[in-house]
This record gives sequence, C-alpha cells and structure tokens, in this order.
Amino acid sequence: MSEPVPMRASAAPEPIMHADGRPRTGPLRPGERVSLSDTKGNRHSIVLTPGAVFHTTKGGVAHDDLIGQPDGTVATSVGGLAFLVFRPLLNEYMVSMPREAAIVYPKDAAQIVMWGDIFPGARVLEAGVGSGSLSLALLRAIGPEGRLTSYERRADFADVARKNVAEFLGGAPATWDVVVGDLVTAIRDDPVDRAVLDMLAPWDCIDAVGERLVGGGVLTCYVTTVTQLGRVMDQVRAHGGFTEPAAYEITSRDWHAEGLAIRPAHGAGGHTGFLVICRRLAPGVQAPLRRRRPAEGAYGPDYTGPLPRNVILG
Ligand SMILES: C[S@@+](CC[C@H](N)C(=O)[O-])C[C@H]1O[C@@H](n2cnc3c(N)ncnc32)[C@H](O)[C@@H]1O
Repeated sequence: MSEPVPMRASAAPEPIMHADGRPRTGPLRPGERVSLSDTKGNRHSIVLTPGAVFHTTKGGVAHDDLIGQPDGTVATSVGGLAFLVFRPLLNEYMVSMPREAAIVYPKDAAQIVMWGDIFPGARVLEAGVGSGSLSLALLRAIGPEGRLTSYERRADFADVARKNVAEFLGGAPATWDVVVGDLVTAIRDDPVDRAVLDMLAPWDCIDAVGERLVGGGVLTCYVTTVTQLGRVMDQVRAHGGFTEPAAYEITSRDWHAEGLAIRPAHGAGGHTGFLVICRRLAPGVQAPLRRRRPAEGAYGPDYTGPLPRNVILG
C-alpha cells in the first residue's frame, strides 16, 4: 500500500531534489514538477496542483489523477492520449531551465566531472556561472562535504543561476558561494583543488587561477571555438606552472535501434565545445623542458601569441 500523500496549500513548487541533493522518491506529491512525454516523444513540464488540469488536443489530464501515483506512471487524457509521467532528472532539468547565456550541456558536464576529476569533498572554483547548468553538475559531484565557489561578472546572470539551482535543490545549497564580479579581480585567496573555466577569454584568468590552485590540482577550460582552444592552450604553456594541456572534443551520437533498422538517429547533436585539461605543478616548480620539438611552423614568424616556457624554439 502506498504512503498517504500530505496535501499542501503552498503555491511555491516543491524543489525537484531533497535539500541534500538526493532525488525524491515515493508517490508524486502536490507542488512537485513532473514531465509528461507523449507517444511522439514531446515533453511537457507541469507542477502538480490539486484541482488543476493539463490540457491536450484530446481532452485534459487531471493533476489529481497523478498526485499519489508512483514515479514512472502512465496518464491518459479524457480523449485517450497517453503520457509517461516522470520526475525530471538532472540532465533533463539542465536543458529545460531558463537561460541567459549558453549552457554547458549534460554530455560535456559529465566529461568535465570525470576529466576535471571533481570529487566528493573537493574545493572547486568555477567561472562564469551563466545560467547555473554546470554549477548543478559540480554541486552534485562535490557532495555535502565539498565547496563550490562560482564567479560571475553579470549580476543578472548570477540571479538566474541562483533561481535555477534553487528550483532544483530547494534553495541555495550550503556548499555553494556565488561571487558577483570578474574572476581576475574578485577571486578569493582560498586554495582550491579543482578549477573549471567556461567563459569567452579563459586565458585572461590563468595567472589568477594558477595562484589558488593547489599543486596537483586540475584546471579544466571549456571553450567552444578552435581559436579559443589554441589561445588557452598557449597561455597555459606560457604560464609554465602547469603540465602540458590536453585537448578533447566530446562528441556523442544518438542511435536508432529497432529490428533491422539500426543506424545513427536523425538530427544527431552537433559541435558543442572543447575541453582543455592540465594540472598545476607545485608552487615554484616549472614544467621540465619538452624533448619533443613543437610542430613545424607552430611558433613561426606569423605567431603572435604567448610563447611556451618549456620548449626549445627555432
Ligand atoms: C557560457 S556562460 C557560462 C555558462 C555556464 N557554465 C552554464 O553552464 O550555465 C559564460 C559566463 O561567463 C561570464 N564571464 C565571462 N568572463 C568572466 C570573468 N572574467 N569573470 C567572471 N565571469 C565571467 C559571462 O558573463 C557568462 O555568464
């Protein structure tokens, strides 16, 4: 027998997660956000409200018929349209929440957590915050013992991010500080274990981050264009206090698999961004001279960017 569902008069929607970041379980409750997917795969997001009706082209679905049902139920409209009803997952929420700036998509956030080695209890620096999509993934990865300090130079964007995170987690988590200001000038002195930059010009922030990142710490830069990729890699090399940066492009492709029709899905995702990953050397330590010469022409007369410290040029 299912638990009785307490009724609440509150107008504010319930957070999607528990305050400690665990997904909710048990019967669907009034005030909770759920997504309804039709048989064509279209998704609709609603907040369960006693007495309300979700209207479709074939009659309504009464919210009262969903309240008290298990997560993963099927709802049918008066005219016979069927919908799958689920609580949203983090990756679904990230792509559906209001945004002011381009977000880090779930596929890239997943890679940032792995290649950037974000661990439970880590002290993580993030800039900029944008809409808070990556912040949500980082907050989940650091867990209740970690600390995420997120810098955003636009106060209006920081507000959007705070609202998005609060809707998901039910308020600003105790593990999160949002600092409004430019990272270079607003950066705090506290040491950090991991740093993640998602901004137009991460090369401007390498020195400031380098001073706070502990020896062995991991710096991840997420950039969307090849010109940004080249520039941030060269700036990291010019700093001299990091390992040789590695660059990745994360591609992912949906597949259609049905009987004998097995092929990439139509409308497969395009380019999103690149990851640049490197590790901070201990304070005062410089990267040893590289034995491999740079690629021919890499730092030829037309190159005007910063020069690496650990490479024999010419
Ligand atoms: C692409 S958005 C970040 C999106 C975010 N990672 C997300 O997943 O929602 C880039 C953000 O960096 C901010 N920004 C750019 N340079 C910055 C700097 N030097 N310090 C702080 N914020 C910066 C911009 O205002 C913008 O909001």
